[in-house]
Amino acid sequence: MSHRKYFKPAPELESEVDALVARYPSPRSAVVMVMHTVQEYFGCIPADALEWIARKLDIEPINVYELVTFYPMFHQAPVGKFHIKVCRTLSCALRGSWRLHEFLCDRLGLDSGVDGPQTTPDGMFTVEFVECLASCGTAPAMMCNDELYEEMDREKTSELIEQCKKKWLPNMDSNHD
Ligand code: FES
Repeated sequence: MSHRKYFKPAPELESEVDALVARYPSPRSAVVMVMHTVQEYFGCIPADALEWIARKLDIEPINVYELVTFYPMFHQAPVGKFHIKVCRTLSCALRGSWRLHEFLCDRLGLDSGVDGPQTTPDGMFTVEFVECLASCGTAPAMMCNDELYEEMDREKTSELIEQCKKKWLPNMDSNHD
């Protein structure tokens, strides 16, 4: 007999998810929306919560895991206030996105050689190399949270960093230069 303790979500999260699931013809159809709700609550989809989603919707954990790893908007670990995604697929790569990624990491004190998302120690920025952002005609492309940035170059990348700092920390002395 297993003595494993299952993750128990906060009652308000469970009620929100229950209300959401009730709007779909079958629980499994709600999976992406439930994932958004869980991520909004935790800032990511932790492993325990992933298993809870699967149990709740009567699907296998691998089905949820596949979605978490396929869609760039889902995260398995918390990300910074500003999540900057740099496209590394062909059109963007040909127009210098790898060099821009290196430049961005240098500016933020991150290691461009590390695979996967990296977050600055103050939790302000996460930088991640991702596949096509569906803006190949205006390469190189980046996203910062939900906003798309096109035809990026070093100057625009520096501006983006400054905009983020101004938006959230208007009185901050620059910690990332
Ligand atoms: S290749 Fe970069 S947006 Fe498509």
